[in-house]
Amino acid sequence: MKHLLAKDLSPKDTLEILTGGVGPRPIALVSTLSKEGKRNLAPFSFFNAFGSNPPIVVFSPARKTRNGGFKDTYNNLLETKECVVQVVTYAMAKQVNICSIEFKPGVDEFIESGLTPLDSLKVKPPRVKESPFQMECVLKQMVPLEEKPGSGNLAICEVLVFHIAENVYKDGIIHPDLLDLIGRNGGHFYTRASGEALFELEKPPLPPS
Ligand SMILES: Cc1cc2nc3c(=O)[nH]c(=O)nc-3n(C[C@H](O)[C@H](O)[C@H](O)COP(=O)(O)O)c2cc1C
Repeated sequence: MKHLLAKDLSPKDTLEILTGGVGPRPIALVSTLSKEGKRNLAPFSFFNAFGSNPPIVVFSPARKTRNGGFKDTYNNLLETKECVVQVVTYAMAKQVNICSIEFKPGVDEFIESGLTPLDSLKVKPPRVKESPFQMECVLKQMVPLEEKPGSGNLAICEVLVFHIAENVYKDGIIHPDLLDLIGRNGGHFYTRASGEALFELEKPPLPPS
């Protein structure tokens, strides 16, 4: 095995190691507005759900590894405190990849990618029509993890509204085969979480009391 001390690694190498070993990671496609009302859309795979009462999702718009600068999503969230977090399907992969280009602030990734904005119910940023699972959120807390190139910022968001496409339900659940989500792995790899990639495991019985 290789044994690497984290303190000896560059931010770029650390990112490659982390994203290679920790995967597949779910992808949040996050829609925000700037304080001037300009739309922004970007993917984040440092993302997950962390509680259900209230429903909490967290993603990390990190500092740029190149120069330590902030991303538009981070700035918009701090200014306007609202976002829509949506999941990413196989059919959306190429358009979501376009949203990850480092466009100048104010460039509308809905237009660049061709993804379709839909009005939200409780927040100002639009939803993405192509995603079958969209969450309207307010920012509860932004937690900076350090102030260096590559440092994470935890955007802790409370979900106010879930929007779920009717056609992803099967056998009473939101079915992974119908969602057809993708996850992010290392390098340029992604995982398609449907078909033969799926398997079921029943919960073990409760221990005797
Ligand atoms: C699938 C995917 C996952 C990504 N995950 C993250 C992430 O978790 N954190 C991050 O800071 N950047 C991540 N990026 C890069 C951002 O999407 C990219 O820096 C983008 O330009 C940020 O946009 P913004 O400046 O409009 O917020 C990811 C890119 C892709 C394609």
